[in-house]
Amino acid sequence: MRTIDWRDDHVVVIDQTRLPDDLILLDLHTVADLVDAIRRLAVRGAPALGVAGALGVALAAVVTPHDVPAQAALVRAARPTAVNLAWGVDRALARLGDGLDAVVAEALAVLEADVTVNRALGERGADWLLGRVAGPLNVHTHCNAGALACVEWGTALGVVRALHERGAIGHVYADETRPLLQGARLTVWELGRLGIPHTLVVDSAGASVIANGLVHAVVVGADRIAANGDVVNKIGTYPLALAAARAGIPFVVAAPESTVDMATPSGAAVSIEVRDGAELTEFAGTRVAPAGTAALNYAFDVTPADLVTAIVTEARVVEPSAGGHP
Ligand code: MRU
Repeated sequence: MRTIDWRDDHVVVIDQTRLPDDLILLDLHTVADLVDAIRRLAVRGAPALGVAGALGVALAAVVTPHDVPAQAALVRAARPTAVNLAWGVDRALARLGDGLDAVVAEALAVLEADVTVNRALGERGADWLLGRVAGPLNVHTHCNAGALACVEWGTALGVVRALHERGAIGHVYADETRPLLQGARLTVWELGRLGIPHTLVVDSAGASVIANGLVHAVVVGADRIAANGDVVNKIGTYPLALAAARAGIPFVVAAPESTVDMATPSGAAVSIEVRDGAELTEFAGTRVAPAGTAALNYAFDVTPADLVTAIVTEARVVEPSAGGHP
């Protein structure tokens, strides 16, 4: 089953807000439906957002053919940090001059390419890791960079899956990923279905998992990679990179080329999404902090390039901490 797909004339996504208990598909017939699904993280993860961007323009071409650029702008603005969303919108919109069918065809090409791209970067990441660490490998990961963050397969979990296919994965430690629990709800669900041995830890245990020698590498995805090699990913990634550097283990970022943003010089120039403080002050609809508590809910952080051992894409491996640049 694909995380996001195109069916006849509309977009279909797995509703990730309902996992792990309910595996439900959402049919999105309008751009407003799609924007709402993106904002509330029913569809999420940088590569899936790239495909959502492209399919959003296709949806506009079908539903509001005289208003495609304005509708595309709404999709583009749905979330600010993952560059893939704007990239996907721009890919499909660039074909508008060739007609509405060309827009839909381009969006479908973006959809199909995501699968092969992620397979390729997964194999490359597995090669890179096994070239440095004798398997079986134990890995720590953060957030969800699996099939649910892409069309299928995954980026960071794509590397894990490629290792698993080679009999080279030992154990995966996944952290909860507060406050929306992409690790606990989504990554653990995927690892269970794949039969990959795994253990869930609280976010704040990540440094101890690393310092205690339980893992050989940290492998994460990315929402935007700046031209200097800074990596923007789910809040809580930066502390894992610090712990990995202290322990002397590789910190590996697995992402498609569409996540590399050469127009952004460094992480400091990236717009970091700040979400509703209620995601912190409430848990599952129940208030857990004193009423009126101010909450700063950064959704992403910036890991400086000097802490990034390797960036693995479908095309190359860049080693920023050794002086490499995207
Ligand atoms: O807020 P989310 O769930 O969209 O954040 C997702 C992440 O931070 C992922 O690690 C990133 O998009 C890479 S997914 C292959």
